[in-house]
Order: sequence, then structure tokens, then C-alpha cells
Amino acid sequence: MAFPTETVYGLGANAVNAEAICRLFEAKKRPLDNPPIVHVARDEDVEELAKNVPDDARKLMQLFWPGPLTLIFERSKIVPDVTVAGMDTIAIRMPRHNVALALIRESGCPIAAPSANLAGKPSPTSAQHVLADLNRRIDAVLDAGSTDIGVESTVLDLTVAPPQILRPGGISYEALVDGIGEVELSAVATAEKAFTGERARSPGMKYRHYAPNAEVILVEGPVEAIVSKVRELVESYRAKGKRVGVLATEETARFYHQVVVKSLGSRKDLESVARNLFGLLREFDSERVEVIVAEGLPVEGLGLAVMNRLRKASAHRQIRAA
Ligand code: TXA
Ligand code: MG
Repeated sequence: MAFPTETVYGLGANAVNAEAICRLFEAKKRPLDNPPIVHVARDEDVEELAKNVPDDARKLMQLFWPGPLTLIFERSKIVPDVTVAGMDTIAIRMPRHNVALALIRESGCPIAAPSANLAGKPSPTSAQHVLADLNRRIDAVLDAGSTDIGVESTVLDLTVAPPQILRPGGISYEALVDGIGEVELSAVATAEKAFTGERARSPGMKYRHYAPNAEVILVEGPVEAIVSKVRELVESYRAKGKRVGVLATEETARFYHQVVVKSLGSRKDLESVARNLFGLLREFDSERVEVIVAEGLPVEGLGLAVMNRLRKASAHRQIRAA
């Protein structure tokens, strides 16, 4: 069943039951080589799932669990191959949501849960989003309203030195550096460039992700330059007869006319921006927008996670405005 976490809704199954995990992949139409995150409700559960727990991990668990931080460990023998896509490592996190924690405790097993969307679609931040993708493909969804953070957890690999961020998310790079000192940002995490399959250490990173049906074009640079570039792009797509949308911010939304304009919130409030991102991408689709021109945002705090998702949604059609 699908359930809420503080980041996005997950689709859960018993992590140590291979058959259940296979059905999870099937429901999501997810490629079998992309393993889900295993969710736990107690620190002790990590000892069973991971072969060893390094000091950095203990520190991070104390600082950020329950919360939006997924840690990669070497895996123990009790984990079925299919749960980790045959890899030697396992991704584990403790979610900060009462419904998620209650579900894990009542189930009495670790729960593997990828985001509860169809593979490739934006992650669901409400039960409605889950049903839009998975109605009739899953048994149930626990509805606890909209999620708080809106982007997925940060994935941090602790099997390398220094630890490496494979996916930026709800816990910022800055907070991790404060917590344990040296932390590396992998190139797939910043997503500044397209990455080929072989080089992607986090298997999920090689697939096109977070993508609405509409084509996404991302414009990066200083704000004034972004606005004039977006206006120029809007005009050229409108001239081609396309239905155009602009993913704007509170400070800039009034500069765009005769297009579907949606505001992520203030550029100074990247928490709201993250919370609104996936829902707005889905709204453009339901309004049959064909091209979404998206404004780039600052890559600090949650902004890095937002920009990672937008760069991937745009399939790296990034334009630098100067
Ligand atoms: O916030 C979240 O993390 C949500 C909620 C439901 O907890 N879950 C989520 O799961 O986003 P999913 O499966 O959609 O994304 C998991 C990411 C994928 O990019 C996957 O490739 C990566 O974690 N991952 C899983 N196991 C891994 C491993 N052993 N090594 C490296 N990356 C791994
Ligand atoms: Mg996902």
C-alpha cells in the first residue's frame, strides 16, 4: 500500500519478502535494476540490514533521524537480492511521519518504499497524486494530506570516503557538512550535465525522472536575465502554436502574460518552492500544457534538490541567460 512520509508518498512492501518486492516494481513499472529505499522505525533495525554501521552513520542518524536522509550501507545477508537490485549495498532511512512510523511498527518488518508514482513521473505529494498514477494497480493508499517537504530524501553514500551525496533532497548539503565535516557532491547530484548509465553510481540517476508529459525547458542565470529569456522563449513557442506554461516565482509571475503561469512561491523561501514543485508540474499536465518554461533557482539549501529535479525533468535542456 501507499503511505505518506514527510517527503513524498511511498509505495510500501515487506523489504525481506522477495515476492512482495517484485509486485512493487510491477505496480510502478519500475526497472528491476533500480532498488528502493528501505524504511525502518528503530535504529536497531539498521544493525540487521547493514553489515556494519560506520561512526559517521551513527552521528548522522542521531542528528537527522527520523528525517529526510537516506544512508547507503553495505548490506547484510537477510536482505533478498531483488530488494537491492543485486547490489552489495542497501539504502535505509527512518521517515519523520507518524503514519509511516506506525505502519512500519504494525507491520513488524522493514518496509521497502520507492516513491508512489509511475516510474518517470513526478513523485506524489498527495494521495490524489498517488491515485492518478496507481489507481487499480495497488491495494490502498493511507491519506494524510499533503506532504511537508515535497522533494525526496537526500541519498548519502557512506561506503566511500569522503561520504558522497548521490541525490540532493530534504536534508541540505550545508547541514550534512555541519554535521560530519567533509561531504562530496557527486556530479549526478548537481545534475549540471547529462550522465551516462555506466557512470551513474546511484542506479536511479540514469533514468529520465520527475518528468511531466510536457516538454520542460529550464532557464538559469541572474533573475532579470531569466525573466527576459523566459519571455522570449514564451513568444517563440506561442508563435509555433504551442500551449505554453511558465513555472515562475512570486517575484516574477507578474512579468508573464497570455500563458499559464504558476508560482512556486518566493525565491527567498526555498522550503515552499520545494513543497510546491511536483504538484505544479502535475497541474501543467492536467491543463494540457505542451511546453513548460521553468525559472532556475538558487542552488543553496533545498534549492539544490529543486534544481536537480528541474534539470532532470528538462532532460538537460538548460539555457543560461546572461
Ligand atoms: O523521500 C524518499 O526518499 C522517498 C520516500 C518514499 O521515502 N523514497 C524515494 O524512493 O524517493 P525512490 O526509490 O523513488 O528513490 C530511491 C533512490 C533511487 O535514486 C535509487 O537509485 C537510490 O535511491 N538507491 C537505492 N538503493 C541504492 C543503493 N544501494 N545505492 C545507491 N543508490 C541507491
Ligand atoms: Mg522515485
